[in-house]
Amino acid sequence: MTVTRAATEYDVTNLELAAEGVRRIEWAEHEMPVLRIIRDRFAREQPLKGVRVGACLHVTTETANLMRTLQAGGADVVLAASNPLSTQDDVAAALVTEYGIAVHARRGEDRDTYYRHLNSVADTHPSLTMDDGCDLVSLLHQDRAEQVKEVLAGTEETTTGVIRLRAMAADDALGYPVIAVNEAQTKHLFDNRYGTGQSTLDGILRATNLLIAGRNIAVAGYGWVGKGICARMKGHGGHVAVVEVDPIRALEALMDGFEVKTAGEAASWADLFVTATGNVNVFRREHFAAMKDGAIMANSGHFDAELDLKALREMAEGHVRDVRENVQEFDLGGKRLRLIAEGRLVNLGAAEGHPAAVMDMSFANQALAAEYAVQHHTELEHRVYGVPPAIDAEVARLKLAAFGINLDALTPEQAEYVASWKHGT
Ligand SMILES: NC(=O)c1ccc[n+]([C@@H]2O[C@H](COP(=O)([O-])OP(=O)(O)OC[C@H]3O[C@@H](n4cnc5c(N)ncnc54)[C@H](O)[C@@H]3O)[C@@H](O)[C@H]2O)c1
Repeated sequence: MTVTRAATEYDVTNLELAAEGVRRIEWAEHEMPVLRIIRDRFAREQPLKGVRVGACLHVTTETANLMRTLQAGGADVVLAASNPLSTQDDVAAALVTEYGIAVHARRGEDRDTYYRHLNSVADTHPSLTMDDGCDLVSLLHQDRAEQVKEVLAGTEETTTGVIRLRAMAADDALGYPVIAVNEAQTKHLFDNRYGTGQSTLDGILRATNLLIAGRNIAVAGYGWVGKGICARMKGHGGHVAVVEVDPIRALEALMDGFEVKTAGEAASWADLFVTATGNVNVFRREHFAAMKDGAIMANSGHFDAELDLKALREMAEGHVRDVRENVQEFDLGGKRLRLIAEGRLVNLGAAEGHPAAVMDMSFANQALAAEYAVQHHTELEHRVYGVPPAIDAEVARLKLAAFGINLDALTPEQAEYVASWKHGT
């Protein structure tokens, strides 16, 4: 094991939680066979030797296994949280004490602490950034421009981060190449859809114990995340309506069997609102005014900006109370609206995030993209790249193999047929 600066530099809630963290990290490890294979190879080949990884990711059991993989590959790893509410304190403690990895993350940290932790990562002068939401990259470029040239390359985990990075590249502001892990098919088709679909439901159920069957549920955004949430809600007997701005996605939702409503139409109809757009103020003052007594709101998009919380607080005029763990109630003069996990990602704020089996693929892509970025950074321009298709295919192949599933291959005749333009009727 490479012992990093963890022994002296870290900021976590309670080191005594480490034993529980180790148990849970090992549980997740069992569900992550692809990452285990990569870790074994990394340990032999040391592809990240000498690389200082600055990571800004949700501090979960799955992330712990990714950090261990990078460390096995020879990297010096420092980790901060990518959201103030997504840190699992036992995992943070275990990473520091048991795995020798520096962590700067406390569940429930305030905004200043969140940025202090990102700065602690930046203080280590990373040569590779691994971001989830682009906050670390943004901080380096805005506050520490002189450090940007030290970074060989980066990787980005989520849709919102990729959108921000593309905006930076369009402004000629991006100082090094970044691999958009989210764009791997073995990431967004599975993590965003099946992972977020299941874990969003999990977060809502843990927080509220709500019976989904028979309820009216408005889901804003029918992207990969929204599709997963809608499918799971429908599977539990919910009546689901999609709120969209993209006509193609709205049509897709309609033909998948969902209602399509405007936010205004959904406001007085739904019992539960879930946002997954990556956008701001999707449900806002006029919608809160129209909502039913007891309506519940949750967000699964990256930032806590999808619900206009400022308006909600103003409308409640201080009449806000905690009614259950992770649920606040806003009293709007006799009508009560309920908010889960402060409007932050509900699956991480009120549950454990995605199941490890799906993060296995996302983080296999992260590990292999990090290796690729280190090997190829000199050939890459300062822009956003997709994950090389060969990596995507390898992750899918390994995952199928882990399920014990065999795949057919094209016969020579079939290969020739699909490559030819001469065959017709
Ligand atoms: N909670 C998690 O663990 C998790 C996991 C993956 C992604 N995410 C985040 O979830 C969000 C969505 O990701 P995605 O991959 O589904 O993105 P996506 O781009 O595939 O889908 C977003 C959808 O939202 C729609 N939209 C945008 N503005 C809207 C508005 N005002 N009203 C209604 N619809 C609107 C878009 O038209 C699009 O169809 C992002 O912020 C992403 O970073 C969260």
